[in-house]
Amino acid sequence: KIEGGLRPKLFSEYIGQQKVKSNLKVYIEAAKNRGEALDHVLLYGPPGLGKTTLAGIIANEMGTNLKITSGPAIEKPGEMAAILNNLQSGDVLFVDEIHRLNRQVEEVLYPAMEDFAIDIVIGKGAAARSIRLDLPQFTLVGATTRAGLLTAPLRDRFGVVNHLEFYNTKDLTTILMRSAEVLGVELEAEGALEMARRSRGTPRLANRLLKRVRDFAQVKYEGVITKDVAEFALDLLEVDRLGLDNGDRKILETIVNKFSGGPVGLETLAAALGEDVGTLEEVYEPYLIQNGLLQRTPRGRIATENAYHHLGLEIHN
Ligand code: ADE
Repeated sequence: KIEGGLRPKLFSEYIGQQKVKSNLKVYIEAAKNRGEALDHVLLYGPPGLGKTTLAGIIANEMGTNLKITSGPAIEKPGEMAAILNNLQSGDVLFVDEIHRLNRQVEEVLYPAMEDFAIDIVIGKGAAARSIRLDLPQFTLVGATTRAGLLTAPLRDRFGVVNHLEFYNTKDLTTILMRSAEVLGVELEAEGALEMARRSRGTPRLANRLLKRVRDFAQVKYEGVITKDVAEFALDLLEVDRLGLDNGDRKILETIVNKFSGGPVGLETLAAALGEDVGTLEEVYEPYLIQNGLLQRTPRGRIATENAYHHLGLEIHN
């Protein structure tokens, strides 16, 4: 997987997210000096901004192992208990989509995070007894698209809470130049800038576009990604000047054409699009909102004047 090969392993290679990075560096150094595991870390923000990458960097910088799982992958409390019981001292356990853990599984985490222990219930009914099993010290790194999706007891058990933000064009350009070097493809600065502008602030998308544009460059343009090659390829991929793809444009067009520009409720909009409510809200909307194309109001979603302009449409009231 190219994303795997492109992932930075250390903070020194990790571009952007300056605030998150400098905070974590301090906490890691302090924990290392005390010879303790790093406090539990919650990372929240839109997909593709580097939550998994950061978990890997935390483990590398701490000099420990990284174990990866996800909320939907763990169905039973016993499975979570087994994962925790297999950790070694100082290990980092990354739980992606941690808001999707079910209640019983989540409850195993409470004593694990707070006291490095799990409570195992033996027997049933009146004869049921609980015994406590000690765990090694470990660091839970939880990732979610929105911190508000977590239950309060879980959220409160994270000592470090960090919000990842969309990357600016400059940082994305730097990331693309680094990725091009790793991949061994020649990327001109102007080409990188064009791709960065169309990557919606998201390194995962930037790297994916790089891979596709590289194919065009290789087959038709002697392997060099110039500004023209980048523009040509991105137009073919239907990624527009703001980085919107067909899915994003369809959302805006649906609000405009089917709901007179809004307001339209999230559920209604999702049904009209045949899209999952959660995906619409957490994957698509943040970038549209950030760019002033969509507004969330108490009465529903609205396509802004900017959205009409971007789609080349007139506003009819
Ligand atoms: N690749 C993906 N995200 C990155 C980042 N933040 N820094 C460097 N390379 C990356």
